[in-house]
Amino acid sequence: MTKVTDKVELTRHGRVAVLNIDNPPVNALSLGVRQGLVDGVGLANSDASVAAIVIACAGRTFIAGADITEFDKPFKGPHYNEVMAAIEGSTKPVVAAIHGTALGGGLETALASNYRVALPSARFGFPEVKIGLLPGAGGTQRLPRLVGAERALELIVGAEQVDARQALALGLIDEIADDELGPAALAFAERIAERRPLPRVSGLTAKVAADRGRPSLFADYRKANARAHRGLKAPEACIQTIEAAVALPFAEGLTREAELSAGLWNSPEAKAQQYVFFAERAAAKVKDVPADTPVRQIRQAAVLGAGTMGGGIAMCFANAGIPVALVESNRAALERGMGVIRRNYEATAAKGRLSAADVERRMALIAPSLELAGIAGADLVVEAVFEDMALKQEVFRQLDAIARPGTILATNTSTLDVNAIAAATGRPADVLGMHFFSPANVMRLMEVVRGKATAKPVIASVLALAKRLGKAPAVVGVCDGFVGNRMLARRGREADRLILEGASPQQVDKVLYDFGFPMGPFAMADLAGIDVGWRVRQARGTTSPVADRLYALGRHGQKTGAGWYRYATGSRQPEPDPAVDTLIAEAAESLQIRRRAVSDQEILERCLYPMVNEGARILAEGIAAKPGDIDVIWVYGYGFPVYRGGPMHWADAVGLGRLVDGMRGYAASLGEQWQPAPLLAELAAKGQGFAGLAR
Ligand code: COA
Ligand code: ADP
Repeated sequence: MTKVTDKVELTRHGRVAVLNIDNPPVNALSLGVRQGLVDGVGLANSDASVAAIVIACAGRTFIAGADITEFDKPFKGPHYNEVMAAIEGSTKPVVAAIHGTALGGGLETALASNYRVALPSARFGFPEVKIGLLPGAGGTQRLPRLVGAERALELIVGAEQVDARQALALGLIDEIADDELGPAALAFAERIAERRPLPRVSGLTAKVAADRGRPSLFADYRKANARAHRGLKAPEACIQTIEAAVALPFAEGLTREAELSAGLWNSPEAKAQQYVFFAERAAAKVKDVPADTPVRQIRQAAVLGAGTMGGGIAMCFANAGIPVALVESNRAALERGMGVIRRNYEATAAKGRLSAADVERRMALIAPSLELAGIAGADLVVEAVFEDMALKQEVFRQLDAIARPGTILATNTSTLDVNAIAAATGRPADVLGMHFFSPANVMRLMEVVRGKATAKPVIASVLALAKRLGKAPAVVGVCDGFVGNRMLARRGREADRLILEGASPQQVDKVLYDFGFPMGPFAMADLAGIDVGWRVRQARGTTSPVADRLYALGRHGQKTGAGWYRYATGSRQPEPDPAVDTLIAEAAESLQIRRRAVSDQEILERCLYPMVNEGARILAEGIAAKPGDIDVIWVYGYGFPVYRGGPMHWADAVGLGRLVDGMRGYAASLGEQWQPAPLLAELAAKGQGFAGLAR
């Protein structure tokens, strides 16, 4: 055995040299790995007794990509492309032996190798686009040569991952190792050791030549994905690299890839997306809940209430392969709820994203029940009944009576006091909030609401469960609206005020849409239902002059064909409605508000600054532990543009000094509620940002 670097070892198995990479946790292409691959291939090539080389990884996965933690440091050692050139330049065949996830630079390493052998459980993909980058080590040039431009677009721009079976069918790998990977890779290497010429992906021409005969391929792809790519820089750059792969010889394509990559590298968008990548992982960790906190196994779940939320939550469990009882008090509601779930799955299947067998498998995991006793076998119960404290307390009293000891009892409340709900039981340590966002089977955010008595193992268990469900959890404390809705309320209040002062709903919506939100607050209200907002105001004893009028007029949003906008029959396209302008003008007059032209900049500041300010209060109160948790909540629960990193990251980019000056300016004309929160004012005075508070 030779230690090539601190992260790469060379071992000999007869005439095969194995370069074994060991760089936990995910074998990222850190300096020692890159250097080790270059030197290791060199050593093996200069040793006449070596006939073939295998590249393999220790631990849980093959190389999962570039080392993102190196991105902010000065670059040292061989560049990624030098590593790929060293591998591809080997005069002896190189076999990549793949387990776990060959992602990004890992897949590029495999593509630079002559052959690829993988375990059946291996997965392959290029996630770079999700962190604002493109595969910059030849991946954009090699993949289209191997699988054609159309699939390359889906993998590189769409960041679609494929499993080993799909990879074999695509020609991405040469063999699936059914038993152990090590012996299979060695046997493969023995078998091909003498075969010449060495197959090199960079030398393939047939697929790209065929793609040159499909002139509309790229235009069609851009058009089909315009909405998903809005505001992002990386997807377009990725598309251009694949166009280059089709149009140019390999070496020129690599140059083009490097130019386009350089344009993304230090962009604020890429930095924000990388920030969110780490914020998401940090949010799943809680300071006083150590990693070795015991977790309870969740083998079976139950959901109470088969409404929109309960149904969506039940789907989350079924999607993760966890059996779930769906318990309703009302037979018609249960039948309706199960029907909606089936239709949702069938719609996904119709788009080709789920097989008919998968639809049935998932449906079979959801056991409808009209008896609360249906929860008896569950390790975790999520309550999603009407948003009513008395009802929820009654439900929790009953749960307390029949749930096994140790069952985690969660409420999906979005507004109610989790401590008061927990107090209805004799086991408040087992109670917490699991606040899902609609549609629950789609939105990735889960606010994990920690009550004052919630036990640490309960939090650890729910965080572990969130990962199995594919959710992005953020732990929050108990307060009105928790983190997300509490901040949203600030924005909503300003939006209401802005239209009275002279902005139109469509102007406000356009400003926030152009900022990068999927829709503005008024379009959003129409989607959620004007009646929903009205009911919330009723419960809180608050009013909203125009929205209350819309409610009274039966303009309940999209479902009634009219709300803040009007909708043609069967259409979800909002159209401005002069009748609404009249309602607004009347309301402004009765409130003696003088209407004026409001600038887009003012709309943006007045909608976003109060959110950041509320975020500062939330941090000061300890309702959220770190700014990144708030950003995760906004990116994954409310569609805050990921390329701006979330409200707190965005505020740092604007500069807290500018934010505070702006707020004080508004305080002069709009009142004292515009005074910056103490934490915000303090950070700004010290010239600091929220980022300094992290960790
Ligand atoms: N560079 C540096 N660190 C990385 C990393 C990378 N490319 N990918 C993952 N990590 C770290 C995570 O930050 C985490 O660290 P922590 O334990 O200190 O929080 C750890 O590795 C485990 O990652 P996690 O995502 O929690 O584990 P997982 O098993 O769920 O998923 C991956 C593993 C590889 C699938 C996932 O981390 C991933 O998709 N990584 C990104 C890969 C990528 O974008 N590569 C291209 C880079 S250009
Ligand atoms: P959503 O916010 O999910 O749309 P709804 O308020 O429409 O919620 O649905 C809540 C559901 O909870 C209703 O279908 C109602 O019948 C059901 N429900 C109410 N009380 C109970 C209960 N005690 N046990 C189970 N289900 C209940």
